[in-house]
Amino acid sequence: MQITKRAPARALLATVLTAPQLASAFYLPGVAPTSYKPNELVPLNVNSIRPIAGIDNLLHSVVSYDYYHPAFRFCQPEGGYKSVQESLGSILFGDRIYTSPYELRMKKNETCKKLCETTYQKDSAVFVNQAIRLDASLNWLVDGLPAGQRSIDQFTGDEYYNPGFYLGDEDPATNKVIFNNHYDIWIDYHEVSGYPDQLRVVGVLVQPESKKYTGDIDQDACNRKLETVSLDENGDTKVQFTYSVYWRPSPTPWATRWDKYLHVFDPNIHWFSLINSAVIVIFLVLTVMSLLVRALKRDITRYNRLDQINLDDLSGTSALEDGVQEDSGWKLVHGDVFRTPSHPLMLSVFLGNGAQIFVMAGFTICFALLGFLSPSNRGALGTIMVLLYTVLGSVGGYTSARVYKAMQGDKWKLNIALTPLLVPGIVFATFFVLNLFLWARESSGAVPFTTMLVIILIWFVISVPLSFAGSWLGFRAPTIEPPVRTNQIPRQIPPSTTYLKPIPSMLLVGILPFGAIFVELSFIMSSIWSSKIYYMFGFLFLCYGMMIITCAAVTVLMVYFLLCSENYNWQWRSFLAAGTSAAYIFLNALIHWVSKLSLSSLTGTVLYIGYSLLISFLFFILTGSIGFFASWWFCRKIYSSIKID
Ligand SMILES: *[C@@H]1O[C@H](CO)[C@@H](O)[C@H](O)[C@H]1NC(C)=O
Repeated sequence: MQITKRAPARALLATVLTAPQLASAFYLPGVAPTSYKPNELVPLNVNSIRPIAGIDNLLHSVVSYDYYHPAFRFCQPEGGYKSVQESLGSILFGDRIYTSPYELRMKKNETCKKLCETTYQKDSAVFVNQAIRLDASLNWLVDGLPAGQRSIDQFTGDEYYNPGFYLGDEDPATNKVIFNNHYDIWIDYHEVSGYPDQLRVVGVLVQPESKKYTGDIDQDACNRKLETVSLDENGDTKVQFTYSVYWRPSPTPWATRWDKYLHVFDPNIHWFSLINSAVIVIFLVLTVMSLLVRALKRDITRYNRLDQINLDDLSGTSALEDGVQEDSGWKLVHGDVFRTPSHPLMLSVFLGNGAQIFVMAGFTICFALLGFLSPSNRGALGTIMVLLYTVLGSVGGYTSARVYKAMQGDKWKLNIALTPLLVPGIVFATFFVLNLFLWARESSGAVPFTTMLVIILIWFVISVPLSFAGSWLGFRAPTIEPPVRTNQIPRQIPPSTTYLKPIPSMLLVGILPFGAIFVELSFIMSSIWSSKIYYMFGFLFLCYGMMIITCAAVTVLMVYFLLCSENYNWQWRSFLAAGTSAAYIFLNALIHWVSKLSLSSLTGTVLYIGYSLLISFLFFILTGSIGFFASWWFCRKIYSSIKID
């Protein structure tokens, strides 16, 4: 194995700072390089056919298809194609990998190999032409490496490989749809130094072409200038498939073979915007916190001094001063702040799930930072997320139970049952409904029925029992006692000022955490919808940290103002206000939809909106929980530092 060995500290630094190097820094033990001898067969597998952004830079569809969907009529290997084993995450993220009839022999140049001849009938032609108009791309994998098209960065002039190549072209002038039936496959190979018969695949480019063959197909036929093929939508079209393979020696070692695919468009822009938002966020948070801490210190000394005066001077000479001064501020609501909020069951269930998602996201990003989720590990991200979410059911149950107990909830059975069922149930139901749309379109994006069963099984057999166990522990743990006693009769809440009204305060609080992750979000969006590979986990880690800090800080600030205005309903208010950042995320998705997508079908629109809503919902619970727990900690802190008689 020739894996780059770097000093751990340097590797970590490199991972954090120059995240593009990530792929080269680490490899999981299972993903060892494969060496081929000259003339040895190198497998070419085919993945699903997906729409990618066209020449206009707009994505026109989000529906993908199996490579062997009958309408495409692609050549199959002798004896039929076989499915290639994949991980759960890979299936969930839309990979459908099969064997192919292409025969690539290491270091053996071959031109114009015949594959098969296919006849496209009317309905196939209509289907394929429509797919071409929607910029469908073929996705091949040679030795696990995606076949790409060469692109040039307009800023730097760097060459990079874009995964996927077009199924065909639409001539903008004549509106004629051209079908590609010949593939020039360019493979970069690297020779392990000192071992001339250990060759490794380090880059794959495919240049598709359209050639209307007439007469015999010989070695030269592919180099001759021929007319293009168009599928006739009113009759049969015969198409002959051919391919050529060219092997080029490359200096790129195996360990850095992904770097060409993980191209960063002007990393300076990325850095700049990240640092920009980081500075704003940190500056804001520091200012706000220092003001808050100063105000609190003043309040606490004042309250405690007043207390002292009260004790020293029971005769009541200072009663006047006392009455005037104590008539305002957050101390007044000490008998109500820890009053059980409305719907404690619902809140505790959300908070339990929020804690679960919080820990899952944290662990996932850490795994990614350590290089476990490198792109060579197809689907590792999805698998890790599902596994972590399942196992962390226990965290969800525990948190939910403890919060519910602290809120003096009495329907503990309902709490135990709802924690692992409500939120995952909503997620699964949405997922299932969206899948129905994909099934109806015969899309390969639809998760197979067996995978669905596996997920349900994992959920009920592992996640739910773990959550029950967590709940049991949580209910057995001592109650989290509030630092001050709650009065029998609730205080009246005075009307609040404009910006403390629910909606304005939510909108104000929610925008800041969103601002912290805004930059990274656009990259994640394009990796989800435009099948770009996401790997900038170093940035993501920083953003996640910034989001947590911002979320906690602004919510605490809002709660402080709320308590100062003698409104003690901070529990739901903090949850909802912090959760509002999810609304901004959804809004951002809508903007992305308008500016980067141009979906022609209803299915595409439903899928896009559906998945955006789902992600926003999870985000709502996550940020809401961060806001709540920060506020809870804050309230406990300030009310335990004042003396109350
Ligand atoms: C294969 O063809 C390419 C392009 O013509 C050439 O650069 C390369 O050296 C050839 N490789 C072999 C092994 O002959």
